[in-house]
Amino acid sequence: MKVLAIETSCDETGVAILEGEKTPAGFSFTTLAQALNSQAPLHREYGGVYPTLAKREHEKNLPVLLEQVLGSLTPKYEVDAIAVTGGPGLEPALWTGISFAEKLAREWKKPVFSVNHMEGHFLSSLVRGGRLENVSFPVLGLLVSGGHSEFVLASDWFRYKIIGETLDDAAGEAFDKVARMMGLPYPGGPEISRLARSAREAGLPASRVPLPRPMLQSGNCDVSFSGLKTAALYALRDMGGIEKLADEERAAFAREFEDSVADVFAAKTRRALRETGAQIFALGGGVAANEHLRSALVRMIEQDFPEVSVRIPEPKMTGDNAEMIAVTALIRLLSGSWRLDRPHEKIRAAGSLSLEESL
Ligand code: KG4
Ligand code: ZN
Repeated sequence: MKVLAIETSCDETGVAILEGEKTPAGFSFTTLAQALNSQAPLHREYGGVYPTLAKREHEKNLPVLLEQVLGSLTPKYEVDAIAVTGGPGLEPALWTGISFAEKLAREWKKPVFSVNHMEGHFLSSLVRGGRLENVSFPVLGLLVSGGHSEFVLASDWFRYKIIGETLDDAAGEAFDKVARMMGLPYPGGPEISRLARSAREAGLPASRVPLPRPMLQSGNCDVSFSGLKTAALYALRDMGGIEKLADEERAAFAREFEDSVADVFAAKTRRALRETGAQIFALGGGVAANEHLRSALVRMIEQDFPEVSVRIPEPKMTGDNAEMIAVTALIRLLSGSWRLDRPHEKIRAAGSLSLEESL
């Protein structure tokens, strides 16, 4: 089965065509063509994603990316369905993708389906080498992006429960805001990470002002980053302001912040694995590109839960992309959860759709 997928929930425009098949142990996927355009450089001067600009750029990019994807296909394939991100995300951005997908579906006379962006992050993070096989439930997912930080427990295919989440800022948002305080460009995650790595590699001494590890004693799997953000603001002020800091001190501070986030997620993941007994752990979302977080989680799980299988997508698949939307639609269609003869009608942009809400 072949699906063309469209992703426009935030500041990446993605179009992809994937072929999926059922295998004896699960599913296999082949990317036939894909194109991805990041608007991050354009949003940089606003210090974050500017919704009207995102919408305009998606409108401009979609026909170009579609052309690119279709043009790169030999032989020409006919797809069986079209999938589009319905939410969560920025509503003006989501609407652009939805209108485009619906128009294409009418022209091509193909069914169209609305995919939950977070389900896309979750399911695609379970795929390894184009295969999603031997999945034994329950599966624990940690989804960390610019808009979300949540622990998801899948008790079966498509049955999700959020067992912990952020009480305020998402992890990516915290990276972006602290980066901004440090005078670093948007998106701040990769910038902080680069500085933190340089501090580790150079063996620099720890930051003069330590940061807290919030919520470790909360007795649940929730996290909170707004206190950490405020602590970072005060710490920078106490050190005399970011402009007064030597390069080494900036790098040490970035490292302290990254360590704090990784320590919190490692502790909360330990608790979530203990409480749920999950045998598979998957990390997904833009912040999953963070090397330090990945290795802190892998190290903790190898030590404390050697029987748990860890699935972390390649860095190129952690951020938003259309391949993850296609993977999700294919799994839904191949398993019979969705049917080609029962397309979704009147798709709406669901800005704050949760993973627990069934589609
Ligand atoms: O999943 P994503 O691409 O978009 C959303 O759905 O939000 O996540 C974007 C977020 C941004 O906040 C960005 O700063 C963060 O992921 N991010 C990182 C890294 N790469 C991207 N955060 C920490 N370390 C990274 N290497
Ligand atoms: Zn995302």
